[in-house]
Amino acid sequence: MNSTTIIKLTLLLTLFINFTSCNGEPKQICDIPQNVTYNDQIASLIEVHCFKCHAQDVYKEKASRNKIFDYSSLKKSGESGQLIGSITHAQGFIPMPYRKGVKIDSCAIEMIKKWVKLGMQE
Ligand code: HEC
Repeated sequence: MNSTTIIKLTLLLTLFINFTSCNGEPKQICDIPQNVTYNDQIASLIEVHCFKCHAQDVYKEKASRNKIFDYSSLKKSGESGQLIGSITHAQGFIPMPYRKGVKIDSCAIEMIKKWVKLGMQE
């Protein structure tokens, strides 16, 4: 291989990389397992992101009695659409985490969406 061939190949490669990375939204790679369950993935996510206000000992005071701290209550909010509506900040739902103007990270959202889609197994 002579040097012009190498330069050409490098240019081509750069173009290719630029093209593929500009193609659509930059997508975060999420490590989401085939099966998502409450005990394996979801409980800890809710604990980290939502227990500040929704934990059993504080929810009455801090989350207007909105229960999401155990399996059955979270499942109910998944079934009603409120869970996904609130974390994706969809219209008609109260955005969560409450009044922070930010969403939880997109991989956590994808994980919860998948859990709901798969029927919210415990
Ligand atoms: C800073 C406190 C706070 C945090 C953190 C928080 N919430 Fe809430 N949550 C509230 C309050 C307060 C309400 C009641 C709002 C109202 O009725 O006006 C509420 C209500 C809800 C509701 C009912 C929404 C509706 O449309 O009626 C859901 C579902 C919910 N929260 C889910 C979550 C989830 C999931 C998280 C974690 C990603 C979370 N919340 C984090 C305070 C919080």
